[in-house]
Amino acid sequence: MGYARTKKISFERELNVKMKRILTGDRPTGRLHIGHYFGSLKTRLELQENPNYDPYILIADVQALTDNFNNPEKVRKNVREVAIDYLSVGIDPNKTTIYIQSMIPETAELTVYYSNLVTIARLERNPTVKTEIAQKKDIFGESVTYGFLGYPVSQAADITTFEGEIVPVGEDQLPLIEQCREIVRKFNSIYGEVLKEPKALLSNAKRIKGLDGNEKMGKSLGNAIYLSDSEEEITKKVMSAITDPNRIKKDDLGNPDICMVAYYHNLFTSKEDVKAVCEECKAGKRGCVACKKQLAKNIIDTLQPIREKRAYYEAHPEEVDKILQEGTEKARKVAKETMKKVKKAMKLDYFD
Ligand code: TRP
Repeated sequence: MGYARTKKISFERELNVKMKRILTGDRPTGRLHIGHYFGSLKTRLELQENPNYDPYILIADVQALTDNFNNPEKVRKNVREVAIDYLSVGIDPNKTTIYIQSMIPETAELTVYYSNLVTIARLERNPTVKTEIAQKKDIFGESVTYGFLGYPVSQAADITTFEGEIVPVGEDQLPLIEQCREIVRKFNSIYGEVLKEPKALLSNAKRIKGLDGNEKMGKSLGNAIYLSDSEEEITKKVMSAITDPNRIKKDDLGNPDICMVAYYHNLFTSKEDVKAVCEECKAGKRGCVACKKQLAKNIIDTLQPIREKRAYYEAHPEEVDKILQEGTEKARKVAKETMKKVKKAMKLDYFD
């Protein structure tokens, strides 16, 4: 049987007006890692079970191109990788609509109209964009592209295309949602009350530190464990994780508070075992190697079902494509409806 779906994606959710549409998404610039799992995927898994919500997940390839415009192969390849990551962790296409951003031309169209409602100074002040531009000097040099500076406008279009009411995000995305709300208010004040103002849902999920102790886990930092990592890769990475630097010999007394292995034990190991590990470490009774081996095993075991599902979808790419295609078709229907309303309000409904 595998994980195949026999049923076509149901449209019931779309028809149920009482459900609030939720929009989230990722840029397809790399495979997803355990930081994504604890940071956003777990929340999405919970939300798709909530009957009050109709969740959409976009794979933001247009946004990925704003700083990867010279690497289209990378974006293309990662669209499928990210889709497989979603399906492997249990995002269910019967409950969550997964779609590809560039396949919704209405979003690009909306971006053009919204661009009249945002000033350059306002975009330059957006703290998220400002930080990113500073980090991307290698791509943009001293002068950022119009496309990158404007990605918050396109993200506002993503959200409003689907009348997304709730946008579950991490803290770094809050300025983008705020900017979207401003655009919506401006639009409505000029053209009439057409758009819904979205609300950010700040997830209480935590940001996971990297294996090296860096506050952020990320591909560019080389400190991530991917959902798709093999058993060997996981073991190798865990063996290289940063432990208490003051602990040189096994019988030195350790401090789990500054040890990345203890930090990950808290995520992957049972409470009793964590307690035992930390006590033995503090008493100098358990060496770091044994502790790392135990952690590697727990991570491998936790990710085992995800790896299995991944193997299935990797062997059935046509199924992944079908899910993306159906999700995109469903999303497009909603987008067309919104576009009609917007064009009417803007007096662009020429031949209707
Ligand atoms: N900016 C988001 C990120 O970097 C991706 C994204 C694009 C998004 N459009 C969105 C998130 C709309 C939520 C809603 O991960």
